[in-house]
Amino acid sequence: MILMRAIIVYNTMTGNTRDLASKMKNVLEKFDIEADIYPDNKIKNKVRTSKTFFESYDLLCFGSCTHAWAPALSFSSFLNIVKKHELSGKKLICFATSASSTAWKDTCKNIKRRFPNLEHLGNFGCSNRNSTNTLQEFSKLNLKKKKN
Ligand SMILES: Cc1cc2nc3c(=O)[nH]c(=O)nc-3n(C[C@H](O)[C@H](O)[C@H](O)COP(=O)(O)O)c2cc1C
Repeated sequence: MILMRAIIVYNTMTGNTRDLASKMKNVLEKFDIEADIYPDNKIKNKVRTSKTFFESYDLLCFGSCTHAWAPALSFSSFLNIVKKHELSGKKLICFATSASSTAWKDTCKNIKRRFPNLEHLGNFGCSNRNSTNTLQEFSKLNLKKKKN
């Protein structure tokens, strides 16, 4: 079985989405999936200038806090840069946090809509830091890459 390499990019204002992102990284590691994790603002310039930034990743995990039932504006602007990259064949996981128990779903849908050609593996999210059930669901994903 060949393993995937993942990148997790998140946008956070008060730390909830960073908390979920780092717990998702721990889950991926339990499945022997190497995951790099970054806040969007740390890599935005690199993503803008390096055409090969995502080349080595099979799995893209993009997540944001929810602002007005959508990703934070700065994350939307980051995703607009990401969209210019050649991403065919990669898999996508969307994640988000929100104050309400459901608004994160709108944020995930918004992220997913931007990448209609990627294989979407799922949306994951929670209210603030209540991620226990979310991580249980996330752990059920079959993330092993199939041999050609
Ligand atoms: C400006 C702003 C707008 C927000 N809008 C929503 C919203 O529309 N729906 C919601 O459920 N939560 C909303 N929230 C709450 C945050 O999405 C929620 O607390 C989230 O977990 C924060 O993530 P963070 O700690 O990663 O910044 C908003 C928070 C802020 C600061």
